[in-house]
Amino acid sequence: MRAEISNARVHPMAQIIDGKIYADRLREQVAEEVARLKAEHGLQPGLAVVLVGEDPASSVYVRSKGKATVEVGMEGFQHRLSAEAPQEELLALIARLNADGGVHGILVQLPLPAHIDSSAVLAAIDPDKDVDGFHIVNAGRLAVGLPGLVPCTPLGCLLMLKDQLGDLSGLHAVVVGRSNIVGKPMAQLLLGESCTVTIAHSRTRDLPALCRTADILIAAVGRPEMIRGDWIKPGATVIDVGINRTGDGLVGDVDFDAVREVAGAITPVPGGVGPMTTACLLENTLEAALARRARVPLE
Ligand code: GUN
Repeated sequence: MRAEISNARVHPMAQIIDGKIYADRLREQVAEEVARLKAEHGLQPGLAVVLVGEDPASSVYVRSKGKATVEVGMEGFQHRLSAEAPQEELLALIARLNADGGVHGILVQLPLPAHIDSSAVLAAIDPDKDVDGFHIVNAGRLAVGLPGLVPCTPLGCLLMLKDQLGDLSGLHAVVVGRSNIVGKPMAQLLLGESCTVTIAHSRTRDLPALCRTADILIAAVGRPEMIRGDWIKPGATVIDVGINRTGDGLVGDVDFDAVREVAGAITPVPGGVGPMTTACLLENTLEAALARRARVPLE
């Protein structure tokens, strides 16, 4: 029989990493632990989400975070301030939430209106309630390898990578994007797993050639379909953090159809990193509640 060489694929299509399955599993684990905390210790973790203004995308995120919080059995608190609210009003709210024993996690939805200094607001959150992991104390803890709260998006990416690949040590991870929210903490987490880590950004020279050396490629730049098929090392694991609204709907930073022909595994957009980010927010809230119980057992 004649072999059908002409139709044979050199590489099979990439496995699709289904973030929703990972997120459902993580949320189930969180819900079980929340139920145990309630039954054995009468403790119900609480998450406060603060929204300033009426940005439609932010409103959708805040509503879905509130729903997810209640679904795992936690208490959800939503605080909405007008787009014109002075910074002092937001800081006063944060001070109240910091002091509130029923609130274990605080998230201030970004971006904030232009008249508010975001760094001052993030710095005002108690680092031990900072479930976004954006406070400089948590960034510092991550940088030196101390336990702390880790930003949800990179944490979700890491959990999926470890499940996919097992031991990550020695792998070359290229992180495209250097934001404080994704790129930098992602690089720190991968370094913590003993990857060789390269952070690439808009000034990087010959980005395609660099990406072709990556065993793990993280795309977090916010440019629709920038990462092309011929930038990928055959068999690489590709994590697409991008969420870009285009005329054709939501697309990632990765040219999915081309890259899946070359990669070993890839996250889709939507349905990849996004669902895990919300699940990790719940996980961080649980961690914050457990950590406070360990510090203040008789509260
Ligand atoms: N806006 C978009 N993503 C995020 C996030 O992860 N946390 C907060 N606080 N705001 C966001």
